[in-house]
Amino acid sequence: MLITNIKGLVGVHPKNQLFLRGSELDQLPVLEKAWLLLENGLIKDFGLMSDLRTPEVNLEVVNAEGRFVFPSWCDSHTHIVFAAPREEEFALKIVGKTYEEIAAAGGGILNSAAKLQKATEDELFDSASIRLRDMIKQGTGAVEIKSGYGLTVESELKMLRVIKRLKAAFPIPIKATLLAAHAYPTAFKDNHQGYIDLIIHKLLPQVAAENLADYIDVFCEKGFFSLEETAQILSAAKQYGLLPKIHANQLSVSGAAELGVAHQAVSVDHLEETDDKVLTKLSTSNTIATLLPSCSFYINIPFANAKGLIENNAIVALASDYNPGSTPSGNMNFVVSLGCIKLKMTPQQAINAATLNGAAAMQIGHEMGSIAVGKKANLFITRPMTSLAYLPYSFGQSQIENVILNGDFYHA
Ligand code: NIG
Ligand code: FE
Repeated sequence: MLITNIKGLVGVHPKNQLFLRGSELDQLPVLEKAWLLLENGLIKDFGLMSDLRTPEVNLEVVNAEGRFVFPSWCDSHTHIVFAAPREEEFALKIVGKTYEEIAAAGGGILNSAAKLQKATEDELFDSASIRLRDMIKQGTGAVEIKSGYGLTVESELKMLRVIKRLKAAFPIPIKATLLAAHAYPTAFKDNHQGYIDLIIHKLLPQVAAENLADYIDVFCEKGFFSLEETAQILSAAKQYGLLPKIHANQLSVSGAAELGVAHQAVSVDHLEETDDKVLTKLSTSNTIATLLPSCSFYINIPFANAKGLIENNAIVALASDYNPGSTPSGNMNFVVSLGCIKLKMTPQQAINAATLNGAAAMQIGHEMGSIAVGKKANLFITRPMTSLAYLPYSFGQSQIENVILNGDFYHA
């Protein structure tokens, strides 16, 4: 396929640029009046229209006059395998209940776990597929998916097997994360060590034997998993080669981000509550700070200090956090808009954070996240737009006209 007359070919970073740190995030190279050639599912070449030689006759030529071509969004933090939405909590939030209050009253994660334990693998696969198709139509071309609504050995495995099926069924890169340490199940409310032992001695060996996870995650937070408990789980998972991507500093300044860095986490995610220590730690570390502004928006908690992180030279990524409790949306266009509007990132920074740095947070920066020769041809073509900034500016509306995955149009 040859795409011609592209108004702006976005994110033509050098191929060896695998992530963007600090002020590097300002650099979003855009080639104006460009063409892009896709072959065998990969980006074969690109250049200026003025330099285009007459294309071969059997090429499919797509005229993108007035349109921008973006590398697909890389959504590095989601929980899209779940049995049922939780609109009942939506109403409670509106009348003033906090996320913590709802969880403490038996809502929240435990509520989702009770429903998931009753659902079949097929049901979970079908509902997650619908969510994933919607996300792809909204421009997502790579995704990470967590377990964490099982909370028993069997149900956590069931979730991970669903993710394995999604990996096989969908034409995009998918990473799986074991998040059994998402909440203490009621049976282990007063026996935390019992549940941790179950994860370490029963679940992890099985997950490794079936090769069901790429990463380990823990919800390290007051009322959930303490620093010591988190450290135990991360250390055990390391024996199986699972690097951490942890839920850190979502509701309180807890030391979770520093713990993640100490355990060489690929990313520490959320960071709505940060202090100078977090900024300093992330300024010299390769651990990515993954910010989830849709979560702040939906549960009305502070927005992360993106500017502080960028000024302190951290690697900042944006992701959706799509889940039934804190973020019932996987729309990365909206995430990028919120990145600009609420995190005060420039459109260039937000787009980089949702593409190349999102890919880096899934360790796929070599094949996704930018327009470079040899990378996967996962991208989207916008409607005609006046400028690049129009995409985040027109929040809540999709500017995506066509999605291309592995070099072919995607029709859900
Ligand atoms: O990332 N905070 C922990 N996990 C999810 C929410 C889970 C839920 O409420 O179901 C999050 O926000
Ligand atoms: Fe999350």
